[in-house]
Amino acid sequence: MNFLLFLIQLLVICLPCISINVTELVYDTEGKELSSKHNYYILPAKHLSGGGLTAVPSGWLCLHFVHQERNTTVLGTPLRLTPLPWRRSTEQPIRLSSDIWIEFHDFESFCVMRLDWHLTDLSPRALSGRRQLLAAGNQDGGRSFGVFRIEKPGANMMGYKLMACAKKEVCKGLGLYASKDKTWLAASDEPLMVVFVRKTSY
Ligand SMILES: *[C@@H]1O[C@H](CO)[C@@H](O)[C@H](O)[C@H]1NC(C)=O
Ligand SMILES: *[C@@H]1O[C@H](CO)[C@@H](O)[C@H](O)[C@H]1NC(C)=O
Repeated sequence: MNFLLFLIQLLVICLPCISINVTELVYDTEGKELSSKHNYYILPAKHLSGGGLTAVPSGWLCLHFVHQERNTTVLGTPLRLTPLPWRRSTEQPIRLSSDIWIEFHDFESFCVMRLDWHLTDLSPRALSGRRQLLAAGNQDGGRSFGVFRIEKPGANMMGYKLMACAKKEVCKGLGLYASKDKTWLAASDEPLMVVFVRKTSY
């Protein structure tokens, strides 16, 4: 009997330890936790301010640039988020302010199926000015292992900020850069607020 009491006490003390700190998690547009085992579209948080993020070939072999679709009805290319350190095959939630990889997933190109995000100093000749564009995939088809984070600037603010945190430098926000005919993602002091739309399985 005493032992049973002891067990119950232990359970009461330890129940809070088991529960996940929900304030740290990232949620999709349906209110579900973001997970490393689902694909997502990244769209602007502001309604009707353009479509989703998509991979566009750069002309340099397997290197792609990340663009925002201008057509608000286009969801873009599905993405997969992977928490670091990387663990094979375990489903993990995506946490705020923690290191992740971001990659276009199930991507059909002549190069690779997955294009991982990283900032690049390469820039198409047509783009004037010097800015670090957001790239996906590499010229040689290999990986770049760019590190990113998802931040929530304020509880009352709609959506999340994406930060590029390469090589333990200070993180840089990711925002939009519009040229005449395309909208690019680039390192920016005015980060784009985004939401995550889960790609439904079929
Ligand atoms: C939950 O996480 C938030 C943000 O990291 C932190 O401020 C808070 O103290 C945590 N709460 C618990 C119970 O660990
Ligand atoms: C936007 O995309 C939809 C669906 O792909 C298409 O039907 C529509 O014509 C597009 N609108 C413009 C302005 O391109």
